[in-house]
Amino acid sequence: MNGETTTTIDIEDVARFSALANDWWDPDGSFALLHRITPARMAYICDALGPIRDPNASPARPLEGLSVLDVGCGGGLLAEPLTRLGASVTGVDASEPGIGAAREHAVKAGLQIDYRQVTIENLQRDLGRFDVVIASEVIEHVANVTFFMERLSSLVRPGGMVVLTTLNRSVRSLVLAKILAECVIRIIPPGTHDWSKFLTPEELKSAMQSADIRPLGEAGLVYDIRRDRFELGPNLSLNYAMHGVKLI
Ligand SMILES: C[S@@+](CC[C@H](N)C(=O)[O-])C[C@H]1O[C@@H](n2cnc3c(N)ncnc32)[C@H](O)[C@@H]1O
Repeated sequence: MNGETTTTIDIEDVARFSALANDWWDPDGSFALLHRITPARMAYICDALGPIRDPNASPARPLEGLSVLDVGCGGGLLAEPLTRLGASVTGVDASEPGIGAAREHAVKAGLQIDYRQVTIENLQRDLGRFDVVIASEVIEHVANVTFFMERLSSLVRPGGMVVLTTLNRSVRSLVLAKILAECVIRIIPPGTHDWSKFLTPEELKSAMQSADIRPLGEAGLVYDIRRDRFELGPNLSLNYAMHGVKLI
């Protein structure tokens, strides 16, 4: 894990996302892979939130009544479907152009989402605590995992849920996510990922536990070549999701 800095920002990394901000909603653009994994990660999130969902919520809006903080929301690829399912969503991101793209798209879509350009360490305390905090494909980009997780945990109410997705630091992710995806087929812009910053499931679990989050489950986001889509499965060797409950 990373050193002792008290910022979660990797400036160069955030600058890379800012430079690509116009691409957020192009399903075939720089964020194509994030678009492709969204149905599977939404399925994971909805399932993970089962224990805290309102049992009387309508089937069309199963997340009604839940406040959700989407940390590192980018262009809002998760914030928007979460809002459509009834959640009250706040999206924060360090990238100003990213938040700009998210705001613009939400307005066009007629969705109410509270977007803010801010780092997790600078989030105002008056935002209170959320029922759910999500950080999807973000933790592998931050400068200090321990500090990021502490701040993230402080924004969840006791009994609330944390949902994370990220890339495993495995030989498979080095070959597929770093070399093949970035350098050969270029479905991810070159330089997007620093493989050494990826976390194994054990490391992620341990970071959650150190921040008073009890891990409750995990699943791999696995590409099914026959169906040409990502699905949830037991193989965590590449991209995976994990969730847990905030203890105190
Ligand atoms: C790979 S993108 C994921 C975006 C979104 N969660 C999604 O999955 O569609 C990572 C995002 O995290 C943001 N980010 C990186 N470090 C951050 C930090 N310390 N605080 C807030 N946002 C951060 C980047 O600007 C970028 O938009």
